[in-house]
Amino acid sequence: MEKLILAIDTSCDETAAAVVQGRKVRSSVIYSQILMHKEWGGVVPSIAKRAHEERIDWVIQEAMKKAVVQHDQLDAIAVTYGPGLAIALEVGIRHAVELAQKWGKPLVSVNHMEGHLYSPFVQNSKGNPSRTFDFPYLGLLISGGHTELVLFKDHLQYEILGETVDDAAGEALDKAARMLGFGYPGGPVIERLAVTVDNTDKYVFPRPMMKSGDLNFSFSGLKTALLYKVRKMSDEEKQQEIAYLASSFQEAVFKTVVKKTEKAMVETGIHHLLVGGGVAVNKHLRTMMRALAKKHGGYVHFPALKYLNYDNAAMIGVVGAIRAEKGLCIENTEKLDRVPRLSLLQSSI
Ligand code: KG4
Ligand code: ZN
Repeated sequence: MEKLILAIDTSCDETAAAVVQGRKVRSSVIYSQILMHKEWGGVVPSIAKRAHEERIDWVIQEAMKKAVVQHDQLDAIAVTYGPGLAIALEVGIRHAVELAQKWGKPLVSVNHMEGHLYSPFVQNSKGNPSRTFDFPYLGLLISGGHTELVLFKDHLQYEILGETVDDAAGEALDKAARMLGFGYPGGPVIERLAVTVDNTDKYVFPRPMMKSGDLNFSFSGLKTALLYKVRKMSDEEKQQEIAYLASSFQEAVFKTVVKKTEKAMVETGIHHLLVGGGVAVNKHLRTMMRALAKKHGGYVHFPALKYLNYDNAAMIGVVGAIRAEKGLCIENTEKLDRVPRLSLLQSSI
């Protein structure tokens, strides 16, 4: 029988809880703080902590209620212990530990990035998408905090092939949007502008690290290139060119990502791709990744529903179910601590 899991994630700016049965989501509740952080242009840790504390009990209760599950039916509780904001992670961990003790349930700790990697396999209550695991995969995790190429060898077995040495791809899009006069998050605004000019690459910004020989990324120089370009323009010119600037910037980011993914495909011989993280909702990126997979006779899986690209607890529950199945539970729950810079490698079995 597939494990019934209550999962909790408070790694950044969403307070999330979910109930899953194996890969199937019975309920997923997400209380977003995005509006609270918007005016600051990014996530403020102290605001995030307080908001998590105020909302977490309600979010957990809602998830249990919507799933129509009593706590005695649960097989385990899963919680994200990193990577993320320390004071935000602590809130989720404390509540998970308390519930595990109160209800006498095993506790499973999950790496937030494992969740994103498994997110294309998260199913609705009817079992869709029905795709099965066919290891190994090449995973691209692309969000506001991470840009990583991962060798996903088998269940819970990871190797990091490349990662960003400075800004994450989503962070670069957010900063570019700010330079163009928009708020946080910037990715969706850049996408909308780029579509209006058919994703034209008029300005051909630099493709960073393209010749570095490794699989790492760097996006901070690209940001500087945009800044110099914008500085030289009058306000009127900037307004006239704004969609082209956004589109060219997005092209530079995505073409770099696609090229590095292709390099990883050639080096590993793996042509089955998984893409997860907030930037993976971008339709243009999806088209580019599909074309890349097709070129090499492979395929690419994305999360099936939009919310599964962003931070959520359903993906944490799915990993939790696999860990619980394998008996990978925390022996001394009191000792579970957050690891803000937790790497996938540390969670690999
Ligand atoms: O995964 P996520 O919700 O949070 C992190 O863990 O970082 O990702 C948020 C990031 C932000 O940088 C946001 O600008 C980006 O995902 N994003 C997008 C789009 N929607 C969100 N980037 C490109 N196109 C989008 N449509
Ligand atoms: Zn995330």
